[in-house]
Amino acid sequence: MKIQRIVLLSIAPLLLVVGGCAEKEEGEKKASAEKMAPQVKASSATASRWYSDEQVARGGALFQQHCASCHKEDASGSPDWKKLNEEGKLPPPPLNGSAHTWHHPLPLLRQVVRNGGIPMGGSMPAFKDKLSRDEIDEILAWVQSHWSDKIYATWNQINQRATKGEG
Ligand code: HEC
Repeated sequence: MKIQRIVLLSIAPLLLVVGGCAEKEEGEKKASAEKMAPQVKASSATASRWYSDEQVARGGALFQQHCASCHKEDASGSPDWKKLNEEGKLPPPPLNGSAHTWHHPLPLLRQVVRNGGIPMGGSMPAFKDKLSRDEIDEILAWVQSHWSDKIYATWNQINQRATKGEG
């Protein structure tokens, strides 16, 4: 029941993840994530992280194995991640905090990795048959370990707002 709710909540934002991020940015001036972060009212500069060092270490190895071929070894992704390619698909975005990944609460990030982007017209493969839930969390921990305290604090507020009441 809990999971179904998360799934329902996640569908609308996922469309934004896959399609909207690029379009929305088209006319906008290039604003870096660091510059945009304070607009989301970052009251606390630091927030304690949800993951352990062990999770980050395991996630790093899994990321290199499953994700680095597209998102790059350092999670820096493709420099032109906002531009649709000839097939109308988005290139793999950076996950290191320089793009949009920190706009998405944890349940949605898990969802993206589990289901991929193909059902939404994107090209990222699904990992739900290849990685366990714990492994996906470890990979996301490694990804988030690349985010500055400022980015993480802003993400933390978005995440708390989105997951309020869901434990
Ligand atoms: C075949 C290339 C490919 C592989 C492999 C891949 N991705 Fe992706 N990923 C993409 C593309 C392309 C997108 C943009 C959405 C789409 O087109 O599906 C994306 C989007 C994402 C997003 C959403 C980012 C945002 O800012 O909205 C996350 C999170 C993500 N990938 C994580 C992962 C993780 C973790 C792995 C490894 C388990 C992985 N990806 C493996 C290509 C890939």
